[in-house]
Amino acid sequence: MLFCRKIPIRAPTCISCRSRLPTLYQFLSTAIDTSTSGQRPFYITTPIFYPNAAPHIGHLYSLVTADIFARFTRISEPDRLVHFLTGTDEHGLKIQKAAKDRGIEPSVLCDALSEQFRRLGTRANISNTVFLRTTETRHREAVEHVWRDLAAQDLIYKGTYSGWYSISDECFYTDSQITHPPSSLTPISIETGSAVEWSSESNYKFRLSSFQERLLDYYTANPKSIYPPAHRERLIQTLKDEPLDDLSISRPRERLTWGIPVPGDMSHTMYVWFDALTVYLTGVGFPAERQGLLWPPNIQVIGKDIVRFHALYLPAMLLAMGMPLSHTLLAHAHWTAQQRKMSKSIGNVADPFDAMDTWGVDAVRFYMARVGGRFRDDVDWSPEQLEKHADEIRSLLGNFFLRITSKTIQKRVASAPQLTFIQLLDQSLDGPNGDVLSSLRNLKGKVEQCMEKFEVGDALDAIILVLREANGALTHTAPWSTQNPPEAAQVSYLLSLEVLRVTGICLQPFIPEAAHNLLDALGVPKAEQSMNLAAVGKGSIGKVKGVKLFEGKREIPSGG
Ligand code: MSP
Repeated sequence: MLFCRKIPIRAPTCISCRSRLPTLYQFLSTAIDTSTSGQRPFYITTPIFYPNAAPHIGHLYSLVTADIFARFTRISEPDRLVHFLTGTDEHGLKIQKAAKDRGIEPSVLCDALSEQFRRLGTRANISNTVFLRTTETRHREAVEHVWRDLAAQDLIYKGTYSGWYSISDECFYTDSQITHPPSSLTPISIETGSAVEWSSESNYKFRLSSFQERLLDYYTANPKSIYPPAHRERLIQTLKDEPLDDLSISRPRERLTWGIPVPGDMSHTMYVWFDALTVYLTGVGFPAERQGLLWPPNIQVIGKDIVRFHALYLPAMLLAMGMPLSHTLLAHAHWTAQQRKMSKSIGNVADPFDAMDTWGVDAVRFYMARVGGRFRDDVDWSPEQLEKHADEIRSLLGNFFLRITSKTIQKRVASAPQLTFIQLLDQSLDGPNGDVLSSLRNLKGKVEQCMEKFEVGDALDAIILVLREANGALTHTAPWSTQNPPEAAQVSYLLSLEVLRVTGICLQPFIPEAAHNLLDALGVPKAEQSMNLAAVGKGSIGKVKGVKLFEGKREIPSGG
């Protein structure tokens, strides 16, 4: 055990210069970082989802994005522990209201819908290692601990709040952030369009304002703290231009009953975001064990709508407790449908389960990463586009594999003098085969570089480009044709298998099932499926068997 509950986590202050001394936490985590066990574990999180309605495509997108990085880290650093958290955000007015509207207890609603989110993760092959619900006792303990810690430092005080609140966004708004269009019954938030209501109440406040300078310094000094960079630039500007208000972190109990009571004051319930943001700490065993090893997160995947909560509130809470901040917030854009925000009332909400049942899990993951892998702009969900992308990967990978393993080619290859791929490399390949080989040689480096820069879409583009070239070369060299000598057929065959081996390794984070089927069918040993073997001529290929790589639609072998 690294921490005793009795040891204060907040940073002690030097009595002469008043600066903060390293906490026990900081001391221990530095020691662990450089220990003989090598790398610190990799910790990645998704937002935790509100179980007020069934999961939709947007939720799956956060999950798939995080899963791609979790899986990429596993194949890049096979000895490194990957800790991957997701879960459900179950307290607050939004859930309380959703349950009331259905005439059921909030806990019943949460049990049913949280299960759907868990099922979504399983169905989509998400490799999370923790699924946490904020209604769990371990989470309540963590949240109470944070509250007490901040209160003990006089960072929480009782005040009053008069302003606007949106139940749908679970967010406080000022006058300047709302508008009252004539078409709407109630005022709405300018940013989200959600209805707001006037609140005037006494509540507890967190001295967020006292962290303004430290937050500004932090973001100015850390260019990789938020991706895409525009979010960080905007945040820096806001921190320079606008004074941060203290944050209300409780609601009166008579208004909000479904939540964690404020320690020592049963007449108040904690604000749901104070509760929810602590989940990332709960997920590493806070306040008791292991957080010294696992904290802080390397990547926190979030949607663009919740940047403020993760980039200001959570970091301020962490700074207050003397804990390090997440390395990178990866803020993705949103999926729209028919170019509009998805909403139940418009009836344009895409169902992720339906999509995966129709096109297959990997096709949906592939579409999300290929179209949504740049994170900057909103992208439109379109069944036609999904079909097109599903066809693309099935054709470039699935059909390519079936083409090259066809009986005709196998027979022709068997009639040529036997050659290994390594021997083949001694010959200089020219024409389309030469081009494929040189692209393949560069692929590993390109993919690694893109992933390092969070450019998931570009990483996938690079893989697709090689597959496209290899498909073209195969058509050009036509190894099935008796017009070409068996020796040439063998060159195409060996090169194509190497393309499949290398791209198969690189594709594991994106389309795990098809990549697994492929590597298995190529007889690539498990121990040789990591990124360091995605280099030309480095790994081995065993006995090859032609199989279907994708669930759903059939692949039709063509050209031999
Ligand atoms: N419960 C909060 C998060 C708390 S994290 C401590 C929440 N939940 S949510 O269910 O509303 O949203 C979860 C994630 O889904 C957010 O990252 C959000 O951006 C994302 N999406 C919700 N709708 C989306 C789209 N239409 N498109 C893409 N992602 C979107 O916020």
